[in-house]
Amino acid sequence: MKATAVAPSNLALVKYWGARDLTRGVPRHPSISMTLSRCLSRCTVEATADRGEGSDEVLARGPGGRMEPATPGFARPVLRHVGRLREEAGGGPRVRVAARNNFPTGAGLASSASGFAALTLAAARVFGLDLTAEELSVWARQSGSGSAARSVLGGYVQWPSAEGGELEGPARQLAPPGHWDLRDVIALVDPGEKAVSSREGHRRAGSSPHYRRRLELVPDRLSEVRSALRRRDLAALGPVLERDAVELHLVAMSSRPPVFYWAPGTLRVMEAVRGLRAREGVAAYYTVDAGPNVHVVCSADDEERVASRLRELAPVQEVLRDSVGPGPRYDEEHLL
Ligand code: PMV
Repeated sequence: MKATAVAPSNLALVKYWGARDLTRGVPRHPSISMTLSRCLSRCTVEATADRGEGSDEVLARGPGGRMEPATPGFARPVLRHVGRLREEAGGGPRVRVAARNNFPTGAGLASSASGFAALTLAAARVFGLDLTAEELSVWARQSGSGSAARSVLGGYVQWPSAEGGELEGPARQLAPPGHWDLRDVIALVDPGEKAVSSREGHRRAGSSPHYRRRLELVPDRLSEVRSALRRRDLAALGPVLERDAVELHLVAMSSRPPVFYWAPGTLRVMEAVRGLRAREGVAAYYTVDAGPNVHVVCSADDEERVASRLRELAPVQEVLRDSVGPGPRYDEEHLL
């Protein structure tokens, strides 16, 4: 028995930063994202012969491109998540897990969100758990990547849906992918692993003197973003998403101890995007997750121009292009 799931990464328009309960992935406030279509994680979970005996195994793509035993740092949260899902099913077989991304991992491209969303779907199927999208979302957020809760749905997503301030609940779709064809042009200025995990960033957020203010500002920002999405109004959406991203980093940089995710190239790309708007009238807006790379949100018509401008910048090593996608799926192309 084996199951493979493919899940997309997602780009937060209002960021999740700071947790009420980090172990269970309960955030301090809701966030909104667009689910991507091309940055994907594939995960296969295969039942091994042992029941109760032996141990689970985690494989990942090694430097040579072959599947190898994963590092303890990678394997630990995967094993914990698998263990919890098996317990939920009332027991089940030991498993072998293999995971692969088609984009750089650990560099602020939400590889953990897509990876854990894919793992949640694949493991749930192998353990015979018949979960709704809402249940999958709540399970995904407990994996170690809170934002995985958003990657189980397609289109534009809010997590938690939080009408009435409920923060334990699942993500919900605000609009399907076809609602608005926004593009995400990603400038990789440093595709290496980040020095401080987002998990550690969440842990430190509350120590910033600016965090309390952020929590006051977020509710209005969520409504502004929902309204801009509803109206497909990029001129309204763009400034809000830039403000929100800068604020996350303001909190991170003023946390104790501080966390610096930006590299010199990050600022260079941000400056170029402002220049594109001022000099060429292109509606393009930046946002940055827990890493140095910059996501530039723009319309389908401007994507080519934005990508070629970003490619001209010296610190930019690679430009990836993505769009809004339909969310995860099961697939027959197994990794094991
Ligand atoms: O999913 P986590 O726990 O790795 O946190 C993600 C944090 C950000 O990517 C910076 C923001 C977000 O909402 O995706």
